[in-house]
Amino acid sequence: MAAIAHSHTHSAPPVLDQPDENKRDFLILATGAVGAAGVAGAAWPFVQSWSPSADVLSQATTEVDVSNLAKGQMITVPWQGKPVFILRRTDDQIAAAKKGDAETLPDPAKDAERVQNPEILVVLALCSHLGCVPQPIGTGNFGGFLCPCHGSHYDTSGRIRQGPAPKNLPVPFYTFKADNVLVIGKATG
Ligand code: FES
Repeated sequence: MAAIAHSHTHSAPPVLDQPDENKRDFLILATGAVGAAGVAGAAWPFVQSWSPSADVLSQATTEVDVSNLAKGQMITVPWQGKPVFILRRTDDQIAAAKKGDAETLPDPAKDAERVQNPEILVVLALCSHLGCVPQPIGTGNFGGFLCPCHGSHYDTSGRIRQGPAPKNLPVPFYTFKADNVLVIGKATG
């Protein structure tokens, strides 16, 4: 039988409501989404694996009109139960992403490989460490997305630059149905 309690004889400072590590990992802290399609404060389960059923496939795409998205503005949209960040990047954010191409990156990728239109960045908003949702654009040491759970810093291309996360924020399949309408979950071509 395992012991389930320890007695503490030393005096420790009172700690109220200490979050347990697992819960904290899955706390969703990104609530800065804006726009009609924004989803703030929702709990997104971290889907570790799934095999799409016909039902899921029938809802496999999410169509998003980004015509009202101003430069520097980001929305979070749900796609297959997961959050996706869509950002209309400023010229500075694009320049920073291209500058990052020349750096030694933990998960090497050129910015141009990650965007179809340099102005529009589309990334799955799940940290590659333990699946937290990173904070919105403009956070962290690289002006991109900070994952607050354990301090992973992504750049303005969603590439991991610092912290424990091993991989870039994934780019989902998507295609532009029109200049300002994209369909997430549908491969180009
Ligand atoms: S989940 Fe650990 S840094 Fe993002």
